[in-house]
Amino acid sequence: MLKLALFVFDRTIEPAWLLAALSAAERDRYARFNNRKRGREYLASRWLLRQHLAGQLAAPAESLAIDYPTGAPPHCAAGGFYLGISHSGPACLCVISNTAHTGCDIEHIRSRRGDPRRIAEHYFHPDEARALAGVAPALRRADFHRLWTLKEAGLKTLGRGLAAGLRRPRFILRPALRCIEPPAPGDWSFAATEIGVEIDSARARFALAVAARTSTLAIEFERLTPADDTGRARRARLNTAWQIAIGA
Ligand SMILES: CC(C)(COP(=O)(O)OP(=O)(O)OC[C@H]1O[C@@H](n2cnc3c(N)ncnc32)[C@H](O)[C@@H]1OP(=O)(O)O)[C@@H](O)C(=O)NCCC(=O)NCCS
Repeated sequence: MLKLALFVFDRTIEPAWLLAALSAAERDRYARFNNRKRGREYLASRWLLRQHLAGQLAAPAESLAIDYPTGAPPHCAAGGFYLGISHSGPACLCVISNTAHTGCDIEHIRSRRGDPRRIAEHYFHPDEARALAGVAPALRRADFHRLWTLKEAGLKTLGRGLAAGLRRPRFILRPALRCIEPPAPGDWSFAATEIGVEIDSARARFALAVAARTSTLAIEFERLTPADDTGRARRARLNTAWQIAIGA
């Protein structure tokens, strides 16, 4: 089972509401951020992952021992969970699984500038770049983000960054999502979707993807919101339709 959680840090949320759920070391680290955007990403991702894990472990969020090694996925010894996080603007996504290595990615669909065809030609597999060039312009940006998030989720599942290159894993999106070449040999599953979110009275769209080293896939997806200044989370199940690809 992959358990995904989403958090959107809009203007109605006070940073102080989230701080109560962080460890003392994380609160100190947050206080030292000069870059406001990076500080918010840090706060949102730590709050979300702690609340998500605390819900599974029935432990206080601030008490969990979580490491965030540079250039690697986060790690928590308790519960034997594999963890993944991603942020894009005010949105933050995390995934946990106690059965399979996993990784996730979220991208604001308008956040990457430039022509998706040029970026795809440069970074993606030539077949993916050709498919993207052939798709109707109205669908192209969403397809591009779908591919990008799937690839990044696969690479993060392996514990790799983007430096390893984005040609592999390789996908086709139409008529249905398929993984043509997995990131490494073995069983894999991928899921991708898009969601619309109201942020500060505007509607934003995000592409989301998750990957796992498993041949079966069940996804549970929740949106978490801080309930009050204790940092406790209100949880709402999201019934999102996922495109799924399973294969070796
Ligand atoms: C890791 C990487 C793929 C993340 O991509 P991104 O779109 O910038 O960021 P996302 O929000 O989707 O993901 C960030 C999270 O991925 C996780 N992560 C970092 N490296 C990872 C890895 N090798 N494998 C899995 N997860 C990783 C971290 O938890 C990070 O969260 P944090 O920054 O809040 O600690 C990308 O930054 C990369 O390739 N980095 C390699 C180079 C590097 O490590 N530079 C360090 C900064 S100089």
